[in-house]
Amino acid sequence: MQLHFKIWRQENPAQKGQFKAYDVAGLHEDMSLLEALDFLNESLVMKGESVVAFDHDCREGICGQCGMFVNGRAHGPLDHVTTCQLHLRSFQDGDVITLEPFRAAAFPVLRDLMVDRSAFDRIIQKGGFINAHTGSAPEANANLIGKKLADKAMDFASCIGCGACVATCKNASAALFTSAKINHLNRLPQGKIEAHERTLAMVNQMEEEAFGHCSFTGACEVECPQNISIASISEMNWSFIKASLMK
Ligand code: FES
Repeated sequence: MQLHFKIWRQENPAQKGQFKAYDVAGLHEDMSLLEALDFLNESLVMKGESVVAFDHDCREGICGQCGMFVNGRAHGPLDHVTTCQLHLRSFQDGDVITLEPFRAAAFPVLRDLMVDRSAFDRIIQKGGFINAHTGSAPEANANLIGKKLADKAMDFASCIGCGACVATCKNASAALFTSAKINHLNRLPQGKIEAHERTLAMVNQMEEEAFGHCSFTGACEVECPQNISIASISEMNWSFIKASLMK
């Protein structure tokens, strides 16, 4: 299989980037897109050229590290998959594949296809703790949590923080990410003690970063690899109003 890549190359955040074309032959349809980039990078090393930098870690759709625009869509042409789970069988032999980094003011490009998503970390740091007694392991049944509640909290907790929601949103809003992180903690009894405080702190931090406001276009839930619904954003907004009134 042969593919023609157009890849965004940018030396560092201070320099301007540009697309560069690469023809890559000898690929197999069962390779993942990231493996195709590995293949390309090996040939670049052999030629003494600089390799294409891209984010990745688990390559199993779990960690949220990978992420790029593939032919104009966050994580590529399939709904609800991460870039590492995108395989070449989703393309035709001879296709042109355009790769560029996630575009958002809050995610500055570090190099080539890598962006700085530390704005997400700062949102998490603002509210990511629960009030728990330390010491010996607590009795497992001390906090009874019903199956429905546990499942719902897990739906929110499944957010891997990849940033596709931000990258695909025309406003570059982080509302889906922030709401998932707030809702998974606020729903559980252990997270209720600081719920108001956490909601205000995380939403305020989101506002302080360079993210835009949510206008409910729904693009985020289409691209989210974990299928998180925009109903999560409504729940966060309701929690924010309540927390603001309780201050
Ligand atoms: S590399 Fe971990 S989700 Fe893609």
